[in-house]
Amino acid sequence: MSQKFLIVCAAAFFLTIAIASIAKANGGPHGDYTTTTDACAGCHRAHTAAGANLLTVETEYDLCMTCHGAGSTGANTNVNDGIYTARSASTTGLSNTVNSSLIGGGFNKYNRLPVTSKHDVSSGLVIAAWGYSGTVALTPSRGVRRAITSGLKCSSCHNPHGSTNYRMINTSINTIPITVTVTDEGAAKDYGKEHWLSDMSSICDGCHSAYHVTTPGSGSDATVAQHGGYAHRVDMITSNTFLETTGWSSNGGVTVTLPLASQFITGTNTNNLVVCQTCHLPHGSSAAMAGFANGGPTGVDVLPGNTNTTDSALLRVANRGVCEACHQK
Ligand code: HEC
Ligand code: HEC
Ligand code: HEC
Ligand code: HEC
Ligand code: HEC
Ligand code: HEC
Repeated sequence: MSQKFLIVCAAAFFLTIAIASIAKANGGPHGDYTTTTDACAGCHRAHTAAGANLLTVETEYDLCMTCHGAGSTGANTNVNDGIYTARSASTTGLSNTVNSSLIGGGFNKYNRLPVTSKHDVSSGLVIAAWGYSGTVALTPSRGVRRAITSGLKCSSCHNPHGSTNYRMINTSINTIPITVTVTDEGAAKDYGKEHWLSDMSSICDGCHSAYHVTTPGSGSDATVAQHGGYAHRVDMITSNTFLETTGWSSNGGVTVTLPLASQFITGTNTNNLVVCQTCHLPHGSSAAMAGFANGGPTGVDVLPGNTNTTDSALLRVANRGVCEACHQK
């Protein structure tokens, strides 16, 4: 056999693998399109569209919810109620338990309770994001909210046409390049558990870059945080890896689990890195805030940092359960 033939065989083999893995990369009507795809017609109409971007439905939110909503049958991931439901034929080889919570949270309910905070993708309001830019530093403007140019939408974070990133996260948000690598996930997609590396924090950079502080000791060093204050470090190792599997509990409290990012792409995956999503849900949370967690600093020249009964700052756990899970004071 000639060497050239072997190279051609090897190339064909890897191409087959590449095509096979591209085919399962996105799921549903998203991406991996062939030249004669029918998928476009599921969301667009050329002459009789009801919404901007030639969408079949008036708003993008309503379009996504025709499949990912509460009463729909177009997708198993019900992001309205934050649960997985086996209601449509699987396109991604899914393996989650029916009615189990989605790892991303929900826009109206999470863990069966109404949400107390969410990324507002339905109102169309143009709301500023905290920590949008690191260029505004020091008093009196530190922690200031910076305006973004349009209201939040699902497509502010996801590309409905598929993407090379984990869960179709956009490869660029507000011109900042975003990379989110999938790891640790087999052929069957698992929407109940984290499958990301530490680069998961980068998804938040497009809108909250000033919060992405990775320098050791940043909690006691005001010179490293872009917004000019002190900030909890992220993307570092925690020794409490049991948090993700067994969770932690004390004094008769509920067992608290927190997802950690994987450190290695190949070999043995050690899930031990703290990222934004360790403490926050990207969609919405029903965590309850009471006592000291109900309120916070107010007035001019203070950092944002309020959580209250109607705003849980997308935290995964009630009050400051996230802190106690790791530090166990
Ligand atoms: C799951 C729904 C969905 C499907 C399927 C879909 N689109 Fe889209 N498309 C959208 C949404 C939502 C937007 C507006 C948000 C955005 O720009 O990403 C959009 C925007 C666009 C745009 C304008 C912005 C851009 O990205 O260039 C084009 C062109 C487009 N789609 C073409 C297509 C074609 C061609 C297909 C079929 C191969 C297709 N779409 C399939 C939802 C979809
Ligand atoms: C602020 C960014 C952001 C917005 C806005 C957003 N998502 Fe997500 N979404 C994510 C991230 C990050 C994940 C991955 C969660 C994980 O695996 O930890 C995700 C995951 C998902 C999943 C997989 C299920 C899961 O929970 O992991 C679906 C489906 C989804 N999003 C749909 C939507 C729809 C529909 C909208 C609008 C109604 C939306 N997303 C708005 C960031 C966002
Ligand atoms: C015609 C039905 C349909 C529409 C409309 C639709 N989706 Fe999906 N989507 C699916 C299906 C099916 C899957 C595969 C997983 C499942 O069954 O939930 C999926 C998966 C996803 C995922 C997970 C991708 C992954 O890597 O596993 C995201 C994120 C997502 N959709 C976002 C959106 C957003 C944002 C919109 C609106 C722009 C939208 N979808 C509109 C059917 C739809
Ligand atoms: C496309 C821009 C965008 C991205 C990407 C984004 N956010 Fe936001 N975020 C916003 C905006 C705008 C607000 C304020 C308006 C609102 O609450 O919806 C906000 C609000 C928040 C809040 C405060 C919520 C509250 O009710 O107090 C938290 C916490 C948050 N984001 C965390 C994150 C995390 C963690 C990520 C990464 C997974 C992320 N965001 C990604 C735009 C974004
Ligand atoms: C997933 C684990 C984890 C969670 C959750 C967590 N921490 Fe930490 N924390 C760490 C690690 C690891 C460090 C060491 C950071 C470093 O290397 O600088 C740290 C550092 C600190 C420090 C010292 C900072 C300094 O630089 O002086 C304080 C104070 C702290 N955390 C408080 C909190 C509070 C309050 C919360 C809840 C909002 C919290 N932590 C949540 C893991 C965690
Ligand atoms: C160790 C847990 C933890 C991690 C990791 C974490 N946060 Fe937070 N975040 C919180 C807590 C707790 C609050 C509530 C306000 C406070 O205590 O400052 C909060 C509040 C916020 C807010 C709302 C505005 C404000 O300051 O109140 C935004 C936006 C935010 N976080 C973004 C991020 C981003 C982006 C990352 C990753 C770069 C991240 N957070 C990582 C615990 C965390």
